Amino acid sequence: MNEVKINLPDSEIPRQWYNLAPDLPTPMQPPLGPDGKPVNPEMLKPVFPMNLIEQEVSRETWIKIPEEILELLLKWRPTPLKRAVSLERHLKTPAKIYYKDESVSPAGSHKPNTAIPQAWYNKQAGIKKLVTETGAGQWGSALAFATKLVGLECKVFMVRASFDQKPFRKMMMQVWGATCVASPSDETNAGREILKKMPNTTGSLGIAISEAVEAAVTDPTGSSRYSLGSVLNHVLLHQTIIGLEAQKQLKLAGVKHPDIVIGCAGGGSNFAGISFPFVKEKIDGAKIEIIPVEPASCPSLTKGPFAYDNGDIAQMTPLLPMYTLGHAFVPASIHAGGLRYHGMAPLVSAAALEGLLKPRAYDQVKCFEAAILWSRTEGTIPAPETSHAIAATIDEAIKAREEGKEKVILFNYSGHGLMDLVGYDQFLSGKLPAASLSEAELKESLKSLEGLPKPSLAKTGRW
Ligand SMILES: Cc1ncc(COP(=O)(O)O)c(C=O)c1O
Repeated sequence: MNEVKINLPDSEIPRQWYNLAPDLPTPMQPPLGPDGKPVNPEMLKPVFPMNLIEQEVSRETWIKIPEEILELLLKWRPTPLKRAVSLERHLKTPAKIYYKDESVSPAGSHKPNTAIPQAWYNKQAGIKKLVTETGAGQWGSALAFATKLVGLECKVFMVRASFDQKPFRKMMMQVWGATCVASPSDETNAGREILKKMPNTTGSLGIAISEAVEAAVTDPTGSSRYSLGSVLNHVLLHQTIIGLEAQKQLKLAGVKHPDIVIGCAGGGSNFAGISFPFVKEKIDGAKIEIIPVEPASCPSLTKGPFAYDNGDIAQMTPLLPMYTLGHAFVPASIHAGGLRYHGMAPLVSAAALEGLLKPRAYDQVKCFEAAILWSRTEGTIPAPETSHAIAATIDEAIKAREEGKEKVILFNYSGHGLMDLVGYDQFLSGKLPAASLSEAELKESLKSLEGLPKPSLAKTGRW
């Protein structure tokens, strides 16, 4: 009988997060202010508390997780490492498919791994309220949960497309005491401007970020801060607990290291969470193929240039060195709302630039097909975002069968899809449209990069 669940006892929860930045062969390029000069930590103070800014710029490889945070994470961590034996059997593959089950968190995804520390550090810094944006609603519900446990207020700007498709996520936020409004809204200058230009827009993460940053920094009490669920270094740092646990669990299963590591990538934190500890192993010499999977309709890593770009449409954030489709990009209204972001985390972008990753992009129809096969073999219903990782896993398992190789595949099961059944309904009734970005749309969107400073392109030929 194959072992299907590899659990770690509470006492084995990792005590430190892993920071990839100091281990990258080429140092990352700094974020820039509107004047084109590197941003200094002081300038970020109206947006984030200093303890998180310190993590954002840290050059330490290992960062201690405070005991109080560990205590909160223990409510659902360590998460199980599971083996997808029924899917393996169905595919007749010699590959072993392992996955970290992040859907067991209270909010149903990996997002609470950073929501808890972010809420806790803000509380330590005397902040009273966090403002954020959310795509699919996963991040908004995770922050609503975390702020309630830690004792902060929470306001969430939710991308209109998901607000309409996924009312249950909004209700979850309300259960945890947060306020949730559809973005673009008429509550901020950024939202009003967009509504004037595009009254019927389905919104985007870029727009919602502009609204949330504006609402946080213009709070007259000065006690609100902004919180981001992906992209930034400190967010990716908090997520590395996933890969660090997986390393311990694979050892228990007798696996030295996986051959392939897969994660879906929106802003990049889920992918970083599962993969960065293995990127370290790869830098140290292990042979591991590491695959971020993004939607064909929002292909920043596979189609975008590596450029300096803003994180939001109103250009309120610093310029970040990243693969991007341009900050004015509004992606198609796919069901994987959490993957609709125009850029990719600078740390993930830097690892891709180094050639450490092999990104790929899939259409949502292929991903839903994979999700259905998963549900009908393994039983659980994955989030549409997660289905991107499942589609790549299935492709790799079939390739292993064709090559007759007993590969070990690890992927992150980033969330469940129990609030995403509308997407499944559309797929099953044959109404789900394919969605990929055309060259003409890409060209148009990249115009928003004109006039911005350019990063050093020593390692890329794509600009
Ligand atoms: C279930 C799930 N998986 C993956 C992602 C993508 O996360 P990231 O932006 O960290 O790449 C999201 C984002 O909302 C999500 O909800």
